[in-house]
Amino acid sequence: MPETRSAPHLKLIQEADINDKVVLIRVDHNVVKRGQIEDPFRIDSTLGTLFHIASRGGRPILMTHVGRPRDKRTGKINCSPNSSVDPLVAYLEEKLRIKIEAPAFSIQPDLGITTIDSSIQESIQRLKERKIGAIYLPNVRWFQGEQTYGPERTRFAEQLSGVADIFVNDAFGSWQPDVSTFDITRYLPSYAGFLMQQEIKNLEKVLDPARPFLAIVAGAKYDTKIGPLKELYQRVDHLILGGVIYNAFLSAQFGVEIAGVPEEDVDLALELVRLDKEKNKIVRLPLLVESEDFGERKQGKTKTVAIKDFRKGDRYNYILDAGPDAFHEKPVVDIIKSAKTIFVNAVMGLTPHFYDGSRALYEAIDENHRALKLYGGGDTLQELKNLCPGTYMRGLNNPDCYYFTGGGTVLKALEEGSPFKIKPVEPLVRR
Ligand code: 3PG
Ligand code: MG
Repeated sequence: MPETRSAPHLKLIQEADINDKVVLIRVDHNVVKRGQIEDPFRIDSTLGTLFHIASRGGRPILMTHVGRPRDKRTGKINCSPNSSVDPLVAYLEEKLRIKIEAPAFSIQPDLGITTIDSSIQESIQRLKERKIGAIYLPNVRWFQGEQTYGPERTRFAEQLSGVADIFVNDAFGSWQPDVSTFDITRYLPSYAGFLMQQEIKNLEKVLDPARPFLAIVAGAKYDTKIGPLKELYQRVDHLILGGVIYNAFLSAQFGVEIAGVPEEDVDLALELVRLDKEKNKIVRLPLLVESEDFGERKQGKTKTVAIKDFRKGDRYNYILDAGPDAFHEKPVVDIIKSAKTIFVNAVMGLTPHFYDGSRALYEAIDENHRALKLYGGGDTLQELKNLCPGTYMRGLNNPDCYYFTGGGTVLKALEEGSPFKIKPVEPLVRR
């Protein structure tokens, strides 16, 4: 059986008693956008665990979240076909040549799926009798209890644990402590899958990096990234920011107003500005791409703006991308070239229209031949693959390169200072 270095700390799937057991596996197959699989890397990364379970006589039930169907503010759940797991089921059936059943549940408007009724027992029976190869549950965020508190949450945890004998977490990308990643471990013997083990082993390279350590963080989900950013700041030698995070930082530093940057984000960014006054780690990307259509956040007329022209009180339209030439400017190039460890969780431009900033960034990183490069996150990997396919392919087989399936999780581990303090990982640690 394959051995994993981080093994001593975790309860490992290879030690679990699996034969004839129904195994509930939480994966992060959150790669469906607008009803299509964008990049199957995250799915393929879990095949080892699935194969392992099957080869040892286990009967697998899979579950993942897709998107964020629950409105944080109102709590309403939108079970739209766009966030269904159907494309994942079709992909896995084709790839593994097995029959996978996706049981139907009744959906209440705004509430989602409120109960796991007994009809699932028939599917489980077929699974046990080996008439089907696996079960794939609906998008786990369609279940009312997954991300709520109160009695619905407990009920969901109890019902979910009722379908299986043991639980395996292979969802490295899903760091949020929800029922399917966290609460469930109170009810079932729980183990780390192979992907989880491998990712945790590689996290050590980011937590204890060869220096200089450069991190590049860009993209959406500002609210969940700002906390980890402050911690990350302490650990890095240099930090390049992009996307909404950089826009918020620039607004805070220069007192400019950039369309689409909420005041709360600027307030949060003020602390980074304060930190950076002293330590000067944040690399100022000098050029940005601004929309010329006021109020429009889409393709259309754009112009390049320079941050050296920023004056307090200036107002800018949407900033849509980093100016690609920013990555040819000497100070930026020098920092990228001299780094010994580079962590990249960054899509620079607003997708699906602005690619030039990301492409220039990835090409600049490619010029550094001596660094250990760790890329993280579904969106980042997808952009790298689309924009620089040669680089992406070389990285797959290169020991100096590693692709994390979850960027947010890496940031979380950096925030906590240890992979074992990530909430869903905690209960997988052997006591
Ligand atoms: C991701 O794609 O970033 C992960 O699947 C986590 O998704 P979440 O941030 O919506 O929990
Ligand atoms: Mg992501």
